Amino acid sequence: MSAESNIPVIAIDGPTASGKGTVAQMVSAALGFHYLDSGSLYRLAGLAASKRGVALDDETAVAEVARHLDIRFSGNDVFLDNQNVTEDIRSETSSQNASRVAALPAVRTALTDRQRAFRQAPGLVADGRDMGSVIFPDAQLKVFLTASVEARAQRRTNQLKSKGNSAILVDVVKELRIRDERDSNRPVAPLKKLDDAYLLDTTAISADEAASKVLAWFKGQV
Ligand code: DC
Repeated sequence: MSAESNIPVIAIDGPTASGKGTVAQMVSAALGFHYLDSGSLYRLAGLAASKRGVALDDETAVAEVARHLDIRFSGNDVFLDNQNVTEDIRSETSSQNASRVAALPAVRTALTDRQRAFRQAPGLVADGRDMGSVIFPDAQLKVFLTASVEARAQRRTNQLKSKGNSAILVDVVKELRIRDERDSNRPVAPLKKLDDAYLLDTTAISADEAASKVLAWFKGQV
């Protein structure tokens, strides 16, 4: 057993806008664990490639960009090449670009070690699409967190509006479906519920309730 494998990981995977980021952050704060938002790495890879004028379907070139990303996380802020890109990586264009580059196997490989490096004492809560299947298959707890497409679209719309962006529910539903479809049907590391993952449907429960549930599962296991 390697030293890292003694460090507990809680893997929270699920579709776009299911609330997994909020729940993962609440759980990591409650346990004093580190937090990995793996989607942000794909968002950063897509953004860096666009900024460098690299075509997003040029697998080798995007993977090269991903391998050499100069990124820094500071509180809730994210920096790329020393520029604050916290807002940039959350735009709808960045979301779709992230989903596109995430479908390229070489890009996923380029980001693997960077994700595993987040596994540090006293523990890690990681959210994404393949945390439990590929990056941390030995995670102590795996959760598949989901919600109906309507609930997810409503949350995403509220989030966009609260940031002063215009958002129309039907468009958001359409965009979520495109990403769900791409993230779930790609040949490499597709999003799917694993047999050993707990299913958590948050359509009708709050983020607080969802986080309590994850904590209870985790405490029941260690
Ligand atoms: O979680 P998110 O919406 O920020 O992720 C952005 C995109 O990155 C998402 O459409 C799929 C991809 N992604 C992935 O393929 N694997 C992960 N572990 C995390 C995100």
